[in-house]
Amino acid sequence: MAKVTFVPSGRSVEARQGETILRAASRARVPITQRCGGNGSCTMCKVRIDGDSKVSPPCEIEKRWISSAELARGVRLACQTKIQGTTRVSLPQSKLAAVVQAQLAEQRERREGQEKTQE
Ligand code: FES
Repeated sequence: MAKVTFVPSGRSVEARQGETILRAASRARVPITQRCGGNGSCTMCKVRIDGDSKVSPPCEIEKRWISSAELARGVRLACQTKIQGTTRVSLPQSKLAAVVQAQLAEQRERREGQEKTQE
């Protein structure tokens, strides 16, 4: 068994050797967008494998759909990547969540700026 942690939720699950990241995410109730049922044809399940994580090397399907630059940055298909040891998986942020976070950061900076001028 190997511990798999999903970021940014921080949820983790114990996974069997050889279990796919997509299946482990499902068990951890971490949603990963996909449309092909894990067949490696929609490319919607891209995730990033962090640092010292132990996973299977990229398969031919991943090499076909993911650029070598992305593979070098740890981008993988969750449905094709098999867990081989302790693994940390970063999920891409949705565009809506990114916009909301940027607006919140802007509001926070504006508020802090107003507080400094009042001091
Ligand atoms: S689930 Fe479609 S490519 Fe992975």
